[in-house]
Amino acid sequence: MNEFNPIQTVVQSLTVASRTHEIRPARPADAGRLAFIDADVSVSPWSKRQFIRACSEDSRETHTVLVVAENGRVDGFVVFSQVLDEASIHNIAIHSGYQGRGLGHVLLKATLDQMECAGAARCLLEVRESNAVARKLYARYGFELDGVRKSYYPAQDGREDALLMSRPLEGISNERA
Ligand SMILES: CC(C)(COP(=O)(O)OP(=O)(O)OC[C@H]1O[C@@H](n2cnc3c(N)ncnc32)[C@H](O)[C@@H]1OP(=O)(O)O)[C@@H](O)C(=O)NCCC(=O)NCCS
Repeated sequence: MNEFNPIQTVVQSLTVASRTHEIRPARPADAGRLAFIDADVSVSPWSKRQFIRACSEDSRETHTVLVVAENGRVDGFVVFSQVLDEASIHNIAIHSGYQGRGLGHVLLKATLDQMECAGAARCLLEVRESNAVARKLYARYGFELDGVRKSYYPAQDGREDALLMSRPLEGISNERA
């Protein structure tokens, strides 16, 4: 039987494309920046109120928000949660000015590592069928298709399917970012 630990709030310092980044838990003061990033890159962005709630001390029991930052400037974030041994990614985004530099890779890897440390056996997520970049990132990390929610997301020209994906977490810490 798995033992469940609180999601760790470790701070990681790492080098991506010769630049030093920090991955750390979000603070309440980050909420505005996270809403700005999500509005910049997401088709259906969360509201600032949702980010305020997600970053609040009260939400730590149910959600974890990590940010990736360079010299104090937050460039991306991930929101995830865990119920028993099942973890779920609810949102992940990198500001458009900093995409394509490997930040999505390192943030996803740090997230999966922390989930495994907390005793999760599997990670679940949903992605728009048209989101080729995110699907490529998830495929790179071994996420496989579990099912399709037909017409789940609103889209510019109607509705769009959601792909339900998951991967086991055992051994993730031995995989390279
Ligand atoms: C998905 C997202 C988080 C990836 O972050 P990122 O920092 O740009 O990703 P990385 O630089 O780590 O690259 C991940 C992969 O995508 C590829 N990629 C990144 N940007 C790309 C682009 N504009 N076009 C094509 N491929 C791209 C990279 O080449 C890399 O592929 P590889 O594993 O073969 O090397 C980011 O694009 C984003 O914020 N998108 C908008 C929000 C979103 O869709 N979130 C996911 C919701 S399910």
